[in-house]
Amino acid sequence: MLILSTQQALSETFQPKVYRAPGRVNLIGEHTDYNQGFVMPAAIDFSTWVAIAPRQDRKLSIRSENFAEAVEIDLDQPATQGRGHWSDYPVGVAVKLEQSGHRLVGANMLVRGEVPIGSGLSSSAAIEVATGLALLENSDAKTDRVTLAKLCQQAENEFVGMRCGLMDQFVSCFGESGHALMLDCRGLDYHLLALPENVKLVVCNTMVKHDLANSEYNARRADCEEGVRLLSRKLPFVGSLRDITTGDLQRHKDQIPEVIGRRCRHVASENSRVLEAASALERSDLETFGQLMGESHRSLRDDYEVSCKELDLMVDLANQVEGVLGARMTGGGFGGCTINLVRSENVDSFKQFVAREYPEATGRNPEIYVCAAAQGAERAE
Ligand code: GLA
Repeated sequence: MLILSTQQALSETFQPKVYRAPGRVNLIGEHTDYNQGFVMPAAIDFSTWVAIAPRQDRKLSIRSENFAEAVEIDLDQPATQGRGHWSDYPVGVAVKLEQSGHRLVGANMLVRGEVPIGSGLSSSAAIEVATGLALLENSDAKTDRVTLAKLCQQAENEFVGMRCGLMDQFVSCFGESGHALMLDCRGLDYHLLALPENVKLVVCNTMVKHDLANSEYNARRADCEEGVRLLSRKLPFVGSLRDITTGDLQRHKDQIPEVIGRRCRHVASENSRVLEAASALERSDLETFGQLMGESHRSLRDDYEVSCKELDLMVDLANQVEGVLGARMTGGGFGGCTINLVRSENVDSFKQFVAREYPEATGRNPEIYVCAAAQGAERAE
């Protein structure tokens, strides 16, 4: 009896618990989240998994299956900044949880990611959120999901050094299977939008990873802040680009340099597109939805300048195929993926066409994923 219960106690202590958090695809609303605007992402059926078991000390040993490597950190002597390593994401989350007042229990962790890395599908939010959930529950600590999403964002902003908005962490926490989220990044209110069954979300990976993505991303944020600063001199109600319409910009274009004006125009026009796209989806008007995706891509390419020739080509190819309702780059840009809304019956011919034409033009073999909108983070086992 005694032996049995000891065994049980041992296995309860050392048996890892597993947590899962998904990546995401954004249907529309790009580079609007950090301007307090609107976004429409869906969690996807690619996740990062974190297995965790407690230890007696205050060390975290984190092993990555993908990188076949482990790191160990002492929670009592944490680094304050990342070092450009995959472990920055989980370590950053641990550091931010501690700084926000949670006393974490040491742990052995194993991470397995199936979200393609550096492809704009937010493998970073997936590892952050899965780690956050795992560390909290391992320490018998609790926090609501909005706070968890914000702590993960803070880890990325302050520890990793990428000034991302909240969209990715939010949808990784709140995604619902079969639905996209219409999120207002100002008040963080959201509602679910059911995705129609007769179309598929097809994601095409250009297989281009741009090293400049982080620095250019941060530069775009700085442009937006400059736009707010300059415009608020004439328009005192402007606290973020969310408060600007394209009409305001037109009227006050002499107040801002041309490039900053284009950045602001993208954000203002994209916000209206997201609102229009949500109402199009609600009335099952997929044609309009698809057109708005196309406009979004052009605005990101010309005004915001975060596309690249491979993304543009991928969108052009998609637009040549029957049954494609809309196509655009998704995520931060400078490489990564496009999102394509494709009628179910045309998905196979779409895949064949892209798989043939894209390598011919670029010499790269694309990856194509037919994604389902998936459930947000959860305990998996
Ligand atoms: C990245 C960031 C998000 C968002 C998108 C662009 O994915 O992590 O916060 O800004 O780029 O829409």
